[in-house]
Amino acid sequence: MVQINPSILSADFARLADEAEAVRGADWLHVDVMDGHFVPNLTLGTPVVEALSKATSTPLDCHLMIEEPDRWAPQYVEAGAGSVTFHAEAAAAPVRLAREIKALGARASMALKPATPVELYEDLLPELDMLLVMTVEPGFGGQAFLDIMLPKIRRARRLMDKHGLQMWLQVDGGVSASTIEQCAEAGADVFVAGSSVYGTDDPAAAVQALREQAEE
Ligand code: DX5
Ligand code: ZN
Repeated sequence: MVQINPSILSADFARLADEAEAVRGADWLHVDVMDGHFVPNLTLGTPVVEALSKATSTPLDCHLMIEEPDRWAPQYVEAGAGSVTFHAEAAAAPVRLAREIKALGARASMALKPATPVELYEDLLPELDMLLVMTVEPGFGGQAFLDIMLPKIRRARRLMDKHGLQMWLQVDGGVSASTIEQCAEAGADVFVAGSSVYGTDDPAAAVQALREQAEE
């Protein structure tokens, strides 16, 4: 099943509740948390996640681009996130952290920067509900899709199949009408889209169009 998760990084931060409403029909709202250390950009934290979770019925998919996720990730579950993604490069104890996120009642997901090989984490996949393969260097919306990541998406899906895992495979960065089909063909089933949704006049229609393309 294909899922489309608009990234509010490309939305108007002064009108987040309205921007959530503008993508009605989306599966999840993707919330990019950046700390100015793990990535060279600073966005939002638990108070905004908590307010947004009360303002929308769409579940929140929190992507933590932060140092020390072992320390901070559980607070995002408590703030209302339905799914929490930490970065493999930042986690001290990813197995313990994934188990803690799940014990608190959210889906646990791990992200890989472009230079991080998926093969390193083959043994950890059964602990995760989702793997995020970044298709840009994390930090900013509106960057060009890195098509050199397509083989990694394929290898990730192959490893999941090899172990008989039903987990989701998310892609994030530069996903648009011109790149989503390649991602779907490579094995991704959860698609984050920021500028290609919020950069249009009709974000809800953009979500629907992306969904149809990915389902083809
Ligand atoms: C980038 C973020 C993405 C970003 C994607 O570091 O993780 O979620 O919002 O934006 P687009 O879809 O514009 O590349
Ligand atoms: Zn993201």
